[in-house]
Amino acid sequence: MNSLHAPAASSAAASADVAAHSLFTPLDGIIGAETDRLDLSRPLDDRTVEAVRTAFRDHHLLVIRNQSLDKERMYRFAELFGPIEGHMIRLSDGSKWDAVHTITNLDAGGNPVAKPFISSNYFWHTDKSFLREPSLLTMLHAVELPPNGGDTQFADMIAAYDALPEDTRRRIDGLKSVQSLEFMRRYTGSAPPTEDDIVAAPPIAHPLVRTHPETRRKSLYIGMYSSHIEGMSEEEGRALLEELLEHATQDRFVRTHRWRHGDLVFWDNRCLLHRATANYEMGKHRRVLMRVVVKGSVPE
Ligand code: SIN
Repeated sequence: MNSLHAPAASSAAASADVAAHSLFTPLDGIIGAETDRLDLSRPLDDRTVEAVRTAFRDHHLLVIRNQSLDKERMYRFAELFGPIEGHMIRLSDGSKWDAVHTITNLDAGGNPVAKPFISSNYFWHTDKSFLREPSLLTMLHAVELPPNGGDTQFADMIAAYDALPEDTRRRIDGLKSVQSLEFMRRYTGSAPPTEDDIVAAPPIAHPLVRTHPETRRKSLYIGMYSSHIEGMSEEEGRALLEELLEHATQDRFVRTHRWRHGDLVFWDNRCLLHRATANYEMGKHRRVLMRVVVKGSVPE
């Protein structure tokens, strides 16, 4: 059964709730809802925008089928949720990603490679948690897919928090974990960040248990950027973070999205972890997704 994280509906929000629930169908399993009843190649009317926002608040992961969007249309749809985020990541030629960019398994010559230049996205994470204002949502649009696999997985951090034993919840409520780009690069075996990147994004402490700004539900805020726990020895903090990550990414909290051509998928980084899955012949088949990210707020 799909678990809804919606707050109690006020009468003012009731009509958006009804529209959202008739537009989107909950996916089987823990999180997410889908629709094939939207055409994002044209601007949406206000009522539909409100319905999509409501469905996003309630399901945290939305799948919109059968789209064919260019960068401009994808940008316009994403900015309905907030300001679009710039990127720090440098590609092998030193350039930075555009606001709407592609993530691929291709080398500079456009050929599929078994180990792409950026491979940290194969580890559980929530986007840009190392920033003061981490990403609100991330949107991917399937452009080219391998014949099988190349899935993306999502883990529900609200359900994971709710399932913790009462004494663990008491132990971790109020703790802060330090999120660090430098730590992530070491943890994932990636190239170290540049001096400029470290200055632009020094390590920052965020609540280990995050409160969703719209639903007020609590969730675990963890993943590959979580380096250690403030006020705890490094060893104890690492052990706690690994224990929480193992708990939170059990099958019962995870949805695997099996991509179809034309899928547009977006998720709430404030309460989900995600990762790419290397379950296809990466050195042989092309996988190209368009990606855009909406900026979020300081976690509370
Ligand atoms: C991401 O981590 O933003 C991308 C996930 C994917 O490639 O499936």
